[in-house]
Amino acid sequence: MLLSGGVIAAQTVDEAIAGLKLIMKDRAFGDAGNRVIVEECLDGEEASFMAFTDGKTILPMVSSQDHKRVFDGDKGSNTGGMGAYSPAPVITEDLESLIMEKVMRPVIRGLQAEGIKYKGILYAGLMIKDNRPYVLEFNCRLGDPETQPVLLRLKTDLASIALAVTDERLSEINLEWKPEASVCIVAASKGYPGAYEKGRIIKGLEDIKKMDDVIVFHAGTSFDNNKFVTSGGRVLGVTAIGKDIKDARDKAYKAIEKIHFSGMHYRKDIADRAIKRKE
Ligand code: GLY
Repeated sequence: MLLSGGVIAAQTVDEAIAGLKLIMKDRAFGDAGNRVIVEECLDGEEASFMAFTDGKTILPMVSSQDHKRVFDGDKGSNTGGMGAYSPAPVITEDLESLIMEKVMRPVIRGLQAEGIKYKGILYAGLMIKDNRPYVLEFNCRLGDPETQPVLLRLKTDLASIALAVTDERLSEINLEWKPEASVCIVAASKGYPGAYEKGRIIKGLEDIKKMDDVIVFHAGTSFDNNKFVTSGGRVLGVTAIGKDIKDARDKAYKAIEKIHFSGMHYRKDIADRAIKRKE
């Protein structure tokens, strides 16, 4: 039985009953467990689908996928995401049309019908099973670390998009994306996703500045005594763009190898899933 974020992924009826007992009798989640939803267990591939919206127009971003587990081979505890890539090969063009038609546009229409003016990012966390999208969650924010590779592929000026969103002129924007692929690898602190160390000096950032096609996004860092030090669980998102996923992955790994801080750890198999799917 897998318990994560208030969700029990039961593999059998007995496990489901044990889960209900844990929540409703043993009160593992306190009052939050007074009501439960029982639904089909989805065992496909997770993907992130984000879009800009001004409440009327909705413009999809390129697809992306993250790696949620802390260790290689999708093992260990869940994290906010140890790496990500774009595009996500599991999201074909047909599937993207289906997601827009069945998920994204209906949400905006539903919000309009309820008189809610929603402007910003709509992010659907999806499970793709048998080539069909199932919604796991919606977020009204960008995905982290999915946004790092997605933004590296954005050609259109982000500030112009943001202004068009707030001014409700998104229909005037022609979103353009680079055809290349991008990969982000997260460098995390010792202990993450549990209690983690802070204040470790980060070395190697200057070396990466000299590299083409690589950007390091700072997540959990502080600038202290003229030095970058760690101050969060997920510290850096080392992100590269390349002609395809493999190329981007190789560049990102070449870059992250130049970085060092005490206790640093990162997954060694980011984007392997996408590369295998393409082979
Ligand atoms: N990477 C998952 C999220 O941003 O929720």
